[in-house]
Amino acid sequence: MIRMESVTKRYPDGTVAVDRLSLDIPDRAITVLVGPSGCGKTTTLRMINRMVEPTEGTILLDGEDLQRLPVTTLRRSMGYVIQNAGLFQHRTILDNIATVPRLLGWGKARSRERAAELMGRVGLDASLAGRYPYQLSGGQQQRVGVARALAADPPVLLMDEPFSAVDPVVRKGLQDELLRIQDELGKTIVFVTHDIDEAVKLGTMVAVMRTGGRLAQFASPADLLSDPADAFVEDFLGADRGVRRLSFFPSAGLELVTDAVVPLDAPAARLAASGAPYLLVTDPDGRPLGWGEPRDLIAGAIVPEGLLPYGRPFVPGTDSLRAALDCAVLSPTGWAVAVDADGRVSGVVSQQAIGEAIRSAHAAGRGDVAEVAEVAP
Ligand SMILES: Nc1ncnc2c1ncn2[C@@H]1O[C@H](COP(=O)(O)OP(=O)(O)OP(=O)(O)O)[C@@H](O)[C@H]1O
Ligand SMILES: [Mg+2]
Repeated sequence: MIRMESVTKRYPDGTVAVDRLSLDIPDRAITVLVGPSGCGKTTTLRMINRMVEPTEGTILLDGEDLQRLPVTTLRRSMGYVIQNAGLFQHRTILDNIATVPRLLGWGKARSRERAAELMGRVGLDASLAGRYPYQLSGGQQQRVGVARALAADPPVLLMDEPFSAVDPVVRKGLQDELLRIQDELGKTIVFVTHDIDEAVKLGTMVAVMRTGGRLAQFASPADLLSDPADAFVEDFLGADRGVRRLSFFPSAGLELVTDAVVPLDAPAARLAASGAPYLLVTDPDGRPLGWGEPRDLIAGAIVPEGLLPYGRPFVPGTDSLRAALDCAVLSPTGWAVAVDADGRVSGVVSQQAIGEAIRSAHAAGRGDVAEVAEVAP
């Protein structure tokens, strides 16, 4: 939908903010621009809605040169969210969100109705509608900013470090909310951040930019973590990219051990049969209670309070290998507990077995890369 072809921006003082940038920004997905301060992220974003005009190169929207589209038409098709939300301080929350519909001549009642609907969508309580921006927390203001950008239902959303001014907990909430909204609405989102974790979490595609406005790498988060293009990208990704990459491997293939799982009322024979160093005891519904060593568990007299905690279980099929590994690392026995969507135990898996799965997943990942390299000229 949005294609940048060798776009350069040179400001009047000679600063090259963006240098021959080519990007194919996919439809109905989140594309993240990430890179150090001053690398040209904001300039790139502003060239997409023509708040800044490129010096050289072409930007196409649905195949049409942006230069040929009237700026007003263009801006209406693109919502814009900035850091600190940039709200109108003298307008109520509801009127802030209704701004663009009002400008488009929707009429007061319909605009406000739309604004109220959007408050719900971004997780704002209706009771906040009559307040002014200064009467809201930073996180709430950001939600208003997102709602305002969505108000006229534009196909494109441009977001410039929208969540960087709030604390990590609020930030995680806003990120999850954005992913949920995106699942429902399927916008084409260009999202700027300097936080690589945010980029990897939100991006379908991630463009890593380097100082001087040059593109260092454009790839999916999984490919970025497995194959950084050069030392700059690798350094920017940080030290634990190997562990973070595990987020992209499913835990579904882990082989679960079931004979180390015993019900509270297990007979003596069951307690002796397994050979596992620890047994996971479950309640009558199959939910985990805790771990015990076989020699400490007496048939008919297992005391739930005497068991070791089972930690945080993972859900195979939903959770990643990273989540499974985390469960095993946090478990006092070194074994992770797998549960189904209802929280019933489906089996347990050792740290060692997870380690083996990680090794084969990495090997398979490398195999794919090798195959691609073979066909490429
Ligand atoms: N109006 C301007 N005139 C001259 N230089 C500018 C102008 N706007 C930005 N620049 C320069 O262009 C470069 C890119 O700026 P830009 O704002 O796009 O960076 P950024 O990646 O968004 O940085 P940050 O992460 O700090 O927001 C910087 O060197 C900046 O100083
Ligand atoms: Mg910026």
